[in-house]
Amino acid sequence: MKIDPKTQDKFFNVLKAVVIPRPIAFISSQSKEGGLNLAPFSFFNGVCYDPPTVSVAIARFAGKKPKDSLVNIEETGEFVINLVNRDMAEAMNQTAAEYPADVNEFELAGFTTAPSEIVKAPRVAESPVSLECKLIQVVPVNEGSQKECGLVLAEVVYCHIKDGLFDGRYVDMEGLNLIGRLGGHDYCELGDFFKMKLPVYKPKGE
Ligand SMILES: Cc1cc2nc3c(=O)[nH]c(=O)nc-3n(C[C@H](O)[C@H](O)[C@H](O)COP(=O)(O)O)c2cc1C
Repeated sequence: MKIDPKTQDKFFNVLKAVVIPRPIAFISSQSKEGGLNLAPFSFFNGVCYDPPTVSVAIARFAGKKPKDSLVNIEETGEFVINLVNRDMAEAMNQTAAEYPADVNEFELAGFTTAPSEIVKAPRVAESPVSLECKLIQVVPVNEGSQKECGLVLAEVVYCHIKDGLFDGRYVDMEGLNLIGRLGGHDYCELGDFFKMKLPVYKPKGE
């Protein structure tokens, strides 16, 4: 089967099912008036190591109410990415409906706020890792189209990780127990781990 994304209007279901598993950036942000907001985004990835930089793509579809997270990030220039473990999954999902801007999804889904160190927005106390972020820029993607996105590029300026999960060198992956987003309505827990060291190129004769 061959698929031309231009003529298959469900191609987003293919894209979401094959670019997997995606980490979930559970973003806490604040409006400039101080209203709290919490919502999940899985078009999320690392971009650079130093300074640590991440990207999150947030849709800005024509004719639709702008997503509060993107509005807040653009207005305040800061936010927190809270990573999601298995215990948080169902409550995280509750926050993803299109609630009016004045709804506080922390209260709605039963999450607890914990103070951040550098940014104003609080982090999610239940999350095993939270990354405080400062906005670098929002890159408009497919600008002017019906399905425009704002690609948020941000520097991680502070990290909170639950005690015992980082030994100063490596993170305890099993202890983190993060979940991933798949296609359709599917999510995954991390299954079996296996290790592979990066190969080192040795020129012949050395
Ligand atoms: C697991 C999950 C991942 C999501 N990923 C994205 C994403 O990457 N980009 C996006 O625009 N919306 C994504 N959404 C939808 C937003 O969470 C949803 O539109 C939410 O209502 C936005 O909230 P806000 O208006 O408070 O920012 C995702 C939803 C879920 C449940």
